[in-house]
Amino acid sequence: MALMPSLYQDPPDWDFRDADTKEGTHVVHSYPAMMIPQVARHLIARLRRLNPESRTLLDPFCGAGTVLVEAARQGLSAFGNDLNPLALAIAAARTTPIDETVLADGLDRLKRVLVPEALSTWDGAIPTFRGRDFWFKREVSRALAWIRDEVRRQLTDPAMRQLAEVAFSETVRLVSNTRNSEFKLYRMPDAKLAAFSPDVIRVFHRILVRYAEGVRAFNPSLRQAATPPAIVKGDSRLLAGIPDRHFDLMVTSPPYGDSRTTVAYGQFSRLSLEWLGYPAEEARTVDRRLLGGRLQPHAEAKPVPSQAVLDGTAAIGSQDARRAREVESFYRDLDAMMESLAPKLRPGALAAWVVANRTVKQVVLPTNVIIAELATRHGFALVEDLTRNIPSKRMPRANSPTNVPGQKGATMTEEHLVVLRYDGA
Ligand SMILES: C[S@@+](CC[C@H](N)C(=O)[O-])C[C@H]1O[C@@H](n2cnc3c(N)ncnc32)[C@H](O)[C@@H]1O
Repeated sequence: MALMPSLYQDPPDWDFRDADTKEGTHVVHSYPAMMIPQVARHLIARLRRLNPESRTLLDPFCGAGTVLVEAARQGLSAFGNDLNPLALAIAAARTTPIDETVLADGLDRLKRVLVPEALSTWDGAIPTFRGRDFWFKREVSRALAWIRDEVRRQLTDPAMRQLAEVAFSETVRLVSNTRNSEFKLYRMPDAKLAAFSPDVIRVFHRILVRYAEGVRAFNPSLRQAATPPAIVKGDSRLLAGIPDRHFDLMVTSPPYGDSRTTVAYGQFSRLSLEWLGYPAEEARTVDRRLLGGRLQPHAEAKPVPSQAVLDGTAAIGSQDARRAREVESFYRDLDAMMESLAPKLRPGALAAWVVANRTVKQVVLPTNVIIAELATRHGFALVEDLTRNIPSKRMPRANSPTNVPGQKGATMTEEHLVVLRYDGA
């Protein structure tokens, strides 16, 4: 039985202060600025009560797949889109049920094969990529290369291998010389690095066992969807390859701004992508390809059709013209995304955006208002705008205006849940 929306009455508030955000497959891999599962779950249920015939859901910025997991568990046919290949791998691992025997067999095999004695006699090749020896100690690289080879050799079931590769990716992150508390790539201070000697095999096993428990817990509910979520790599400004007039619901959390000055999804993913064997060009250019990643030349730039953007960029521009253009480029991209989104939705579809309002040069950019303003030009009408406090989400609660690690600036403590109805072109 699918988890019915009636199971999820509206919460007393949307803060979910003490909620377990790592339930089931939501434990699989960290990712910057994730939506919390409880918001995804209750928001989907709320939209389904408003549109009871809903069967299909799109998340055009699916990231690690929080929305897709919760949509599948409520029996919806879900579609996810993102440009970051690591996000797609995580989303796929979180949404795929795995047979109990396959899970047990996979864990057992790796437990037997991945032991220190086997590593000591291994003489395979260690992949090379730029910066490898800066970000990884030599012995760590050796262990990683060996684990990657064994995962690919031992595991034939595609879903189990996918889960293990994602566990490998999280291992890469934890055993690297980076400061794990930051999403951007910063190296540990020398004194800490000198004493850093991670037990790579143990870290990998610990992570994989935790993920397997998450899959076991969500196996029955993930099987509720008639079809498993489809997850595609694509630019949300185009949404190519996504069926037209197909979706009853959209639930998403777009980025807060460009990756350089807000959340660096590409930097977060780069080392994992290099180790997973993605081409260097792809592994290193994610941030530039995301929303707001490229500053449009003045000549091409039309004003963004939102009074709130015009007001915000005028106030920022009086202090820093380039920052104003960066902000404008981001919202112009968001407008392009909405233009591509509209034809994907059925008339009457509900589209929910979970957004936070960032501050640039002491100017608050009201993304909730901007979304509603932009959307009205593409055939949407505002249904509601709910507010939640952010007690626990891993995001730049205190961001760094100068992009200097450790220096904190303005804070984001609230999110808006903006619900729009698509009334047709
Ligand atoms: C706030 S995160 C989404 C997090 C997601 N809701 C979750 O819970 O994991 C925003 C996502 O937008 C993606 N993104 C940014 N620009 C994009 C674009 N032009 N096309 C597709 N995805 C994009 C980023 O890669 C990132 O994964």
